[in-house]
Amino acid sequence: MPAVFISGANRGLGLEFARQYAGDGWQVIAACREPHRADALQKIANVTIVPLDVADTASIAALGANRDFGKLDLVINNAGIFGGSLSDESQTLDAMDGAEWLKIFQVNTIGPFEVTRALLPRLNPGAKIGIISSQLASIAGNASGGIYGYRSAKAAVNMVGRSLAVDLKAQGFIVLLLDPGWVQTDMGGASAPLQPSQSIAGLRRAIDGAEPEASGRFLTWDGREASW
Ligand SMILES: NC(=O)c1ccc[n+]([C@@H]2O[C@H](COP(=O)([O-])OP(=O)(O)OC[C@H]3O[C@@H](n4cnc5c(N)ncnc54)[C@H](OP(=O)(O)O)[C@@H]3O)[C@@H](O)[C@H]2O)c1
Repeated sequence: MPAVFISGANRGLGLEFARQYAGDGWQVIAACREPHRADALQKIANVTIVPLDVADTASIAALGANRDFGKLDLVINNAGIFGGSLSDESQTLDAMDGAEWLKIFQVNTIGPFEVTRALLPRLNPGAKIGIISSQLASIAGNASGGIYGYRSAKAAVNMVGRSLAVDLKAQGFIVLLLDPGWVQTDMGGASAPLQPSQSIAGLRRAIDGAEPEASGRFLTWDGREASW
């Protein structure tokens, strides 16, 4: 039975990843900040719930030492924030706040790097590492401006993923940057055109089909090459 680790698995896209992989018979290691409050996650069979705050280095170190799970075939760095306490409007040229910006980087950029590094000793040969990025990360595609914190943190995690792909090539690990589309979650809001089930089914196809030469690529939920 293959094993997948998912961060931020208590709601939104992470929860949907957990549902779909568990439904297909995978062993799911689902990480969240407050396991005792993860009601939806607890209702899914065959899920091991582990504590993890991706912005807390002690929590990441504890994850690395956690013996409630073993070897992994797939790591999905899904946990992310749009702006913490910052809304869309407060990530503008006039209002963007540097201290809050650093918090967005801690969760969206440094978190996936540190979690991946902590889990490297757990990876089976040929394991895949997914990093959930965003179309808002695209430098080439940015025609609307603003959203300084989220855009820059996701663009930066794309570069992190690309370096990981190079650095882990000799070990045979495959690293993918993944754009889930605009999806109806707490973050995506009610106007988003995609349901989590569609987005995650598409991302799972992209992950499943990725061969070693795909490592370091930025892929969309519907199987296209995303724009850097
Ligand atoms: N929805 C979209 O349209 C969309 C589009 C592009 C990219 N994305 C990306 O997709 C990923 C999932 O987003 P979503 O839409 O599912 O968002 P969401 O509904 O807001 O869920 C975010 C998840 O991340 C977790 N999280 C936040 N900070 C964390 C931390 N410090 N440590 C551990 N977990 C933390 C949350 O846990 P708590 O419940 O504890 O807060 C929650 O489980 C994110 O990386 C997001 O940037 C989403």
